[in-house]
Amino acid sequence: MLTKIKWILLFPLRYIFLMLGYGWREYYSLIINRQDRDISIKDIKDKKHKKHFWALEIGNKVKELFIKKGLKKSDDFLDYGCGYGRMVLPLIKYLDKNKYIGMDLSKERIRLANEFIASLNTKVIKKHRFFVSVNKTIKDLVGEIKFDKILMYSVISHNPLKEVHKILFELKKHLKKKGKIFFDYQSSHENIPNDYFISFMGFTLKRSVKDFRFSNKDISNVMDGLGLKYKELKEFEKFQDSITSNHYKKLVMVQFKD
Ligand SMILES: C[S@@+](CC[C@H](N)C(=O)[O-])C[C@H]1O[C@@H](n2cnc3c(N)ncnc32)[C@H](O)[C@@H]1O
Repeated sequence: MLTKIKWILLFPLRYIFLMLGYGWREYYSLIINRQDRDISIKDIKDKKHKKHFWALEIGNKVKELFIKKGLKKSDDFLDYGCGYGRMVLPLIKYLDKNKYIGMDLSKERIRLANEFIASLNTKVIKKHRFFVSVNKTIKDLVGEIKFDKILMYSVISHNPLKEVHKILFELKKHLKKKGKIFFDYQSSHENIPNDYFISFMGFTLKRSVKDFRFSNKDISNVMDGLGLKYKELKEFEKFQDSITSNHYKKLVMVQFKD
């Protein structure tokens, strides 16, 4: 009950943030920082999850898929919204040194990512960089650098559509001419309405302030508006990174229009 009330209080908090002139990113990073402030990387490892967000093994599966889609050791790679770093180890082991950059809005997630790396066999750790990106542009953090591959795994589904547009607008400026952006999203469908709701004391409320679903049309409008083209990677349907099927979760590969 207490947890439910805490979650419900996040809704008015968002509007208070807006009235104070803060944006989505500040609000969202505050939630994540509070949520993860007492978690250690040992807690995550001890969970031994096979699916969902704490499943460390997903990083390996994503890396294998990217290699099939053309990831090269020499690629400049941006893991945008890198979280606690489950993609980091497979990627930095594979990529040449200094090719991996991870960014996240949350200082707690970056703390965990650094803790994760520190807990590993240092022989396999190549030089890489992490950044806390709240209130910063990519240019503020790394200058004019452009990337061959940009990953946003489980990131878009935690941003409102307007923010998705802003993110891709910024990423586009840091994408090489032949570069590719990969991201997944939860697609809305008539069987799964555009958001999911709970009942509380007779009221129907959106279940989560930080989960968003988009129709395929929403995504295609964002892409068209930015002069980008994309295709869905069908392999992802069998990917199974959550208990439910990935039928409504899409992974797309984005490129500049020719
Ligand atoms: C569900 S987690 C996924 C983390 C990681 N990609 C993974 O798969 O383990 C989403 C992460 O994206 C980050 N995030 C969301 N929007 C972001 C943005 N605009 N810039 C940077 N990080 C962002 C959040 O702080 C959070 O750590």
